[in-house]
Amino acid sequence: MNTYELIKKKRDGESLSTKEIEYLISGFTHGRIPDYQMAAFLMSVYFKGMNARECRDLTMKMVHSGESVDLSPIKGFKVDKHSTGGVGDKTTLVLAPLVAACGGIVAKMSGRELGHTGGTVDKLESIPGMRTDFTRDQFVDITNRVHMSVIAQTATLAPADKLIYALRNVTATVDVIPLIASSIMSKKLAAGADGIVLDVKTGAGAFTPHYTDAVKLAKTMVGIGEGVGRKTTAFITGMAQPLGCAIGNALEVKESIDTLNGSGPPDLTDLVLTLGSEMLLLSGIGQARPEARALLKSHIANKKGAQRFKAFIEAQGGDPDVVENTDILPRSKTTISLESGRSGFVQGVDALEVGMAAKTLGAGRQTKEDAIDLSIGIVLNKKVGDPVRQGELLAVLHSDGDTSKIDPAVKRLLGAYTIGTEYMAPPKLILARISGDGVKELNG
Ligand code: URA
Repeated sequence: MNTYELIKKKRDGESLSTKEIEYLISGFTHGRIPDYQMAAFLMSVYFKGMNARECRDLTMKMVHSGESVDLSPIKGFKVDKHSTGGVGDKTTLVLAPLVAACGGIVAKMSGRELGHTGGTVDKLESIPGMRTDFTRDQFVDITNRVHMSVIAQTATLAPADKLIYALRNVTATVDVIPLIASSIMSKKLAAGADGIVLDVKTGAGAFTPHYTDAVKLAKTMVGIGEGVGRKTTAFITGMAQPLGCAIGNALEVKESIDTLNGSGPPDLTDLVLTLGSEMLLLSGIGQARPEARALLKSHIANKKGAQRFKAFIEAQGGDPDVVENTDILPRSKTTISLESGRSGFVQGVDALEVGMAAKTLGAGRQTKEDAIDLSIGIVLNKKVGDPVRQGELLAVLHSDGDTSKIDPAVKRLLGAYTIGTEYMAPPKLILARISGDGVKELNG
């Protein structure tokens, strides 16, 4: 076997055997295959794709390139959720405590921001004292006590993915479905959960803006998960406009607490109930979707979800008082109101542009080493379908007062809004559910 032959084989549209994929991944991870040959192979995959068996093999080789987390010391069925990333997507912060309050077990490893999208670990770190850097034993202990834990992905998890992702990032091979699917699933499978619910975003703010690509990605990931014996389902959900109203770390934590207390935005609440029902059903809690949904809703009403969030924060070293008093979250130096220049209806709030505006304002990192100002972000006052009068508040920018960031961020945020005279209904949020049985289009 030699690398040249394998690149040529893929370039010519042939499929690679399990042994050939193993040769490539192991050779690259151990430095025997140079970057330029791996880059050529990745580009061949971009043009020629991979079949389901190749995707599964690639994923499992990446899983075995590092440590797999053994969650067997945690009693019961462990369920995980993964979002392909969006703007204002703070779902995990609401979903995990609610599912745990209903009897589910959520042992989750999360990432930091990626491109224009935020990361759960950064969001959690805006809670004073909160830690996400626990050992496996501490992770297991917290999950056994609280039925939920969220920690940062360790460097030993699927290291081949880390190396390949870095190369993809500089060779225009990030947006390749078999590569995205194997990258995400290698980390999910190595993290050890028994069941996985995938939230695959579509729309302007998603990595797969086109619905058909999102469906293809979801089918590929479900195929990989089911193929290796993990219960896996996926939902295709809308990311044309941001989810909820808050974008930015501390602001998103506040909105999550509001949602756990029953006063969150309707779209975020709906998504939490949809994904949460699936997680409960996979865990064997509840017989049917309406029953699971009602159980989750009851734990918003009786505040059991909020209490579970408090217990989780305390177990991970954070200040649990934040659940009653969100004023202890980092507060920005200054706020800027963005007003509408015209009257009409909001017809669009481009999620990608809002994400980029938040990043321009300083809500994200400019370089890998940057520390984030966790207080910075944007709160939308108007979303698609809302009527608006000239001079009325569209959004509030939470800033550190640096005008060299404020001016371009305001411009970008204003450009994200489309306001017209005709009413436009909000875009659909829950578009399809994908399982081993196929694709079911939904009317959400
Ligand atoms: N997220 C990942 O973890 N990998 C990808 O390839 C894309 C998004």
